[in-house]
Parts: sequence; structure tokens; C-alpha cells
Amino acid sequence: MSHPILTPDEVRRCVAKMPRLALAHLPTPLEEIPRFAESIGAGRLFIKRDDCTGMLFGGNKTRHNEFLLAEALRQNADVIVWGAGVQSNNCRQTAAACAKLGLECRLYLSRASHNDDVQGNLLLDHLMGAKVEIVDIPVGPGLDDLLQAKAAELRAAGRQPYCWDRVHGRPIAAVSYVLCLAEIVEQMRSRGLEPGAIYAAAAGATGAGLALGRAALGLKGAVRLILPIRWPWNVREDMAEVANRTAELLGLPHRLTAKDVEASEDYIGAGYGTVSSQGRNAMDLLARTEGILLDPVYTAKAMGALIDDVSHRRADTGSPIVFIHTGGTPAVFAYRDELVGPVK
Ligand SMILES: Cc1ncc(COP(=O)(O)O)c(C=O)c1O
Repeated sequence: MSHPILTPDEVRRCVAKMPRLALAHLPTPLEEIPRFAESIGAGRLFIKRDDCTGMLFGGNKTRHNEFLLAEALRQNADVIVWGAGVQSNNCRQTAAACAKLGLECRLYLSRASHNDDVQGNLLLDHLMGAKVEIVDIPVGPGLDDLLQAKAAELRAAGRQPYCWDRVHGRPIAAVSYVLCLAEIVEQMRSRGLEPGAIYAAAAGATGAGLALGRAALGLKGAVRLILPIRWPWNVREDMAEVANRTAELLGLPHRLTAKDVEASEDYIGAGYGTVSSQGRNAMDLLARTEGILLDPVYTAKAMGALIDDVSHRRADTGSPIVFIHTGGTPAVFAYRDELVGPVK
């Protein structure tokens, strides 16, 4: 079944019915990176600066939180219960948004992904006044259950928690990346260009939103989603399912299956939260050719994939490629030991 192709304005009109807060600096810049492109043998290459969304060093989660925290306020929440890895970019941006909105922020952070030195994102969580508890449960279903249990305790004590919830939260968060893709299309068209392939680090909502955005905007190029973590489920099926729930929220007729989601688990390296040599090389190269910093856990691995695709002629370098920088840069301070000295 063929579905209508929407303009960026039509996408925005569909999104307008969702509760939303203004948290991010939007639109984020779209910059061409010619020195980097030349050094990897690509054609025209652009970087979407979602590391510049503005909330405490920026990142993709500030776009998500415009919708998630609007939903929290709609539900009269007085405390936000969030959790992820100890160097979570999500939790750092959420702690900042909570401070701005006057909401208590409780974070449950897993030490399984990194040591818990108070550095990088974790230092920022403390500076934002979040209540932090470090736990030894890995990121994934176990930590999700803990968050639900903590929210239930708060509810029993008469509080109104809004809790990070993979089932209900991700379709809402993904709306923001349908919008981001519309923003990119508009910015490219204002330069007289159509985007070819799009690359982004994605683990769930961001990827689902981009995949749905591709269908809704009728883009021809691939949306390549690079996983930073190996989940205990089929990520293509999962992202398609999230995308379909997002389409329902927006009243869009588009429906995706796993084959519409181009997600790769080939660049995770030794595991979530580790630095890969491909990623480290990508970080060094972008920094030294364009003065732009990637983060070691997400965006460096995604850029490593882009470089790999270009060098193996898997990417169509005849049309402009857009890399979405989803943020994460405060983590570099916590990864000092892995980021100085020769690439291992
Ligand atoms: C820098 C960065 N990029 C990408 C992602 C992936 O986002 P999502 O899980 O919404 O797909 C994250 C999530 O934590 C992130 O921090």
C-alpha cells in the first residue's frame, strides 16, 4: 500500500496536536564538513548539530523531553523517575529540564556500563540537583523494572511520579525525530539539495522517529541507524513497532515493518559504554578536520560506520550525506583514559 508523502510543514501540523514544551534551541544548525568529507573520500557531507539543542550541553534527549515532560506535566507529575547508564546523556539532559521546570528528578544509574567517578554527565546530574542512586543492574529490562518499582513506592507515598517507560515513552519521544528529519529536509532544500543517506546513532526512540520520518517525508536515501548497545530483542522489529505507535499518535497512515528499519549492530565494539578503535579514529578525524567533537559511546561509533560505508563503497557518495550529531559530548571527560594516547 502506498502512503502519502508529506511536506515538512504537513509533518509539523500533525505534530502540533501533541502536548509540547519549548526546551530546545531549534532549529539546530546544519553545517557542511568539507575537510572531513575529503579526508574520508566522501562527496558532500553535512552534520546536523543536535549536540547544540541547548539544554546543558545539548543532545537528542532534549528534543525527546519537549514531548515527554509535557506529558508528565499533563499528568500533574511532581517527580520524574529516570534511569540509564552512569554516564547517561538522557539523564543529564532530563536533570537539567527538571531543574528548569521545578520538578524533582530521581535518577537510577547503572554502574555496569562505566565506573561511577563523579565526572562528565554524572557530575552534571549532581550539579543540576538530581537525586542520584548508583545501582549494579545493567541498562535494559532489569533497570526498567527498578524504575517502575521506585515509581510505585513514590505513588504509595502520595507522590505523582512520571517514570521513564520503554513502552509508553518511546513513541512520544520519537515524535521529536520525525520533526528533526523534517527540519533537515527543509534545511537541505533551502540549499537546493535533497538529502541522500542519513546516519545517526540510535538505540530506540530516535531511530524509530527517523525511520517513520523517512516514510512520511518520502525520502529515497537510506536512514542508517547505528546501535551503541546490543539489546535482548530484535531491534528492527522493535523500532518498527515504536514507529507505528508514533504514527498512531500523529494520525499518520504510514506503517513500518522490520525491513523498513536499517539498523546495524556491527559497530558496538566490545560492548555498550566502551570505546571502539573505529569510533576513536572517527572522533580524532572529525575533531582535527572540522573542530567538532563526537562522543565516544554513541556518535563516534555511528561516524565510524559512515566512514566504513564510504570506504567500502556501500554509501552513495553521489548525493549529500547527512550525519546527525545526537550529542553526548560531556562523556569525554569521564573517558579521559581511553581518549588520550594512541588508539587501541
Ligand atoms: C548521544 C546519543 N545518541 C544517540 C542515542 C540514542 O537515542 P535513542 O535511544 O533515542 O535511539 C542516545 C541515547 O541515549 C545518546 O545519548
